[in-house]
Amino acid sequence: MQDIIEQLEQKRSAAKLGGGEERIAKQHAKGKLTARERIDLLLDEGSFEEWDMFVEHRCNDFDMEEKKIPGDGVVTGYGTVNGRLVFVFSQDFTVFGGSLSEAHAEKICKVMKQAMKVGAPLIGLNDSGGARIQEGVASLGGYADVFQQNVLASGVVPQISLIMGPCAGGAVYSPAITDFIIMVKDSSYMFVTGPDVVKTVTHEEVTPEELGGAITHSTKSGVADLAFENDVEALAMTRRLVDFLPPSNREKSPTWPTSDPVDRVEPSLDSLVPGDPAKPYDIKELITKIADESDFFEMQPDYAQNIVIGFIRMEGSTIGVIANQPMVLAGCLDIDSSVKGARFVRFCDAFNIPILTLVDVPGFMPGTSQEYGGIIKQGAKLLYAYAEATVPKVTLITRKAYGGAYDVMASKHLRGDVNFAWPSAEIAVMGPKGAVEIIFREDIGDEAKIAERTEAYRKKFANPFIAGSRGYIDDVIMPNDTRARIARSFAMLRGKRLQNPWRKHGNIPL
Ligand code: HXC
Repeated sequence: MQDIIEQLEQKRSAAKLGGGEERIAKQHAKGKLTARERIDLLLDEGSFEEWDMFVEHRCNDFDMEEKKIPGDGVVTGYGTVNGRLVFVFSQDFTVFGGSLSEAHAEKICKVMKQAMKVGAPLIGLNDSGGARIQEGVASLGGYADVFQQNVLASGVVPQISLIMGPCAGGAVYSPAITDFIIMVKDSSYMFVTGPDVVKTVTHEEVTPEELGGAITHSTKSGVADLAFENDVEALAMTRRLVDFLPPSNREKSPTWPTSDPVDRVEPSLDSLVPGDPAKPYDIKELITKIADESDFFEMQPDYAQNIVIGFIRMEGSTIGVIANQPMVLAGCLDIDSSVKGARFVRFCDAFNIPILTLVDVPGFMPGTSQEYGGIIKQGAKLLYAYAEATVPKVTLITRKAYGGAYDVMASKHLRGDVNFAWPSAEIAVMGPKGAVEIIFREDIGDEAKIAERTEAYRKKFANPFIAGSRGYIDDVIMPNDTRARIARSFAMLRGKRLQNPWRKHGNIPL
């Protein structure tokens, strides 16, 4: 018995030491924490229950039978974030470069399956040299097993990926399937093929950071949702994100205590929309003024900034916000913003998070690059996502709601539950000048006449009343009263039940 306990202690300390002091020092020298240090920061103190510490690889090639480290390069288990259960895996770069062996993959799949059974989020901390080269196809099989579990877990439990080191080749596809990707600046990268292959094939010279670093993916590709300065910040913000999320698709988000009065009046909102319809304003001001404690957790803040997405709380409960941003491209919908918005709407719908849509959209972005890039199919994604969503949907048109974009942005016609407009709303087929130049083509060139007709069109259509007269708008509300009216609508919608017709799955235009 004593012998066994000693062996146990030996194995435990070997597992805890991972690849050894030297490799840990190297990891620290790169500004990175170890797999275990990361778990300590992610979870509530003392809450981590580790599984499979004694798992070892089964490879006998390349002298691997002599190189076994308990745990095999990934630390797995469960714990709590602010008291709420989460499952976690954390790849240990100090053990074979965090590379994924068959056994390593089995450990990851085990926590994923358990997370789905009990209904709790899964958080993956990725720091890996990819497939364990010594294991060959067994390792590839391991990756595919992880992908399969990621897909089965999609829409069942929230999945969050943190990229905290290398993540290359096919390995990128596990995070890609998860709901959110969070990267660390300067120490993480993701790419399908690295700079060397890129140079050989396309003759482009590019650094790993330029090709797939945190800035690239959070500003250019949209692959990453958030990018942070270092491991500590990334882990702290992940805890904040988890606080907004429900544990699974079977439950609602948690309700956190708030002292912010639900009927808080915001007089400053009465002058948010400028008198000149061509002038922009910052939609984030409205979002923060509606939110409990002005707390807005924005996702993808640096990508496709013409649409703003993220989480707020009202009366303590999570609300997903999607808002056109007049400050960027006048709030037009283009390919990137449509896809960004669509994916967020689908996340909210999958996880019972009510959706607030703030509309100020002059239309879809014109141009060959948009048409050649498939704005037809890409824009349809947003429409599809809104139309299939069955969670409570409250929409507020602050200013422009023109053309197809009016329809798309959670209009009444796409089963919007409560559709409000501010007095400044302009709801029409298109903007006044464009409309006049089509209906009165013969007047083009006569500036005075065009101006007169534009003004007449504006008076008739650039207001909320025609839509209101048809019931497309439930009420025209005062900006200062917006928080109370929206909160009351969501409170009314708490018991909403709506089901789409049975089908295996829809066919969203991918
Ligand atoms: C086994 C690996 C490994 C791997 C790294 N190591 N990657 N061991 N399999 N894939 C080991 C190294 O031998 C070394 O061991 C330790 O990890 C640290 O690696 P270094 O190279 O010293 O670190 P660094 O200089 O930081 O470079 C990190 C790296 C590099 C860029 C990730 O190691 C690298 O290029 N690795 C190979 C990446 C790769 O080609 N992977 C397979 C891709 S294919 P010691 O003992 O010296 O500490 C793939 C397919 C997935 O992943 C398919 C899914 C569908």
